[in-house]
Amino acid sequence: MRAVVSLGGSVLAPDLDPARVAAHARAITRLVDAGVSVGVVVGGGGVARDYIESARALEANEIELDDMGIAVTRLNARLLIAALENLAAPSPATTYDEAKAALRRGDVAVMGGVMPGQTTDAVSAALAEFVEADLLVYATSVPGVFDADPNEDDEATRFDRMSAAELVDVIVGTEMTAGASAPVDLLAAKLIERSRMRSIVLDGNDPEAVVDAVLDGDHDGTDVVPDGSQAELQQWARQ
Ligand code: UTP
Repeated sequence: MRAVVSLGGSVLAPDLDPARVAAHARAITRLVDAGVSVGVVVGGGGVARDYIESARALEANEIELDDMGIAVTRLNARLLIAALENLAAPSPATTYDEAKAALRRGDVAVMGGVMPGQTTDAVSAALAEFVEADLLVYATSVPGVFDADPNEDDEATRFDRMSAAELVDVIVGTEMTAGASAPVDLLAAKLIERSRMRSIVLDGNDPEAVVDAVLDGDHDGTDVVPDGSQAELQQWARQ
């Protein structure tokens, strides 16, 4: 089985706590030990936002801001690589080709952002498509996909299961609400839809949640299931 995990920067290293990074590395190692080929795309989190805000106040243009964000995602990726010891190449992959080559070698492929104008949500979906992953897991600070922003609306309800087309509709609705935080951005949702990628959005604060989701399909988040396909994967890694 091959899985791509999108690890938000705010999940991996909200405060650069090495114990937390080590726990995420242990979870990835457990997947590898279970025979899963793993790609990890690391986000920038609050640190990226701080840099971007500061540089925006200095009137850097949007591409410069994105490049700054990408640099932080790669810095966070290096932190995970340090914790993974010899399971990953010493530097994060900067292209999908490099990441695929890492998987072919049997390494864990670790990367951050790749180019301005998007986020690591889309990078994760593109990598999953490119390496023909069986499963894409978004380990975010939001516990799934909701019909409204759960931080703003007490009535917000989580979807247990939805199609990729429904995901696109929900994200379009959420992105139009000022300040709303969508768990996955629109480009990522469109890539998931076109590649028919089986995906899960879950609360990644507990690193073990990713292990249970990949190995057993067991989680408390949202399953994004391609239209017309079987609701369950043919074979979860542990079965
Ligand atoms: P993130 O993927 O962490 O962005 O990349 P985000 O969605 O804003 O963060 P979370 O999910 O809330 O934690 C950080 C920033 O890096 C740039 C963007 O500016 C993004 O906001 N970036 C990242 C790119 O320009 N291209 C990429 O491929 C990745």
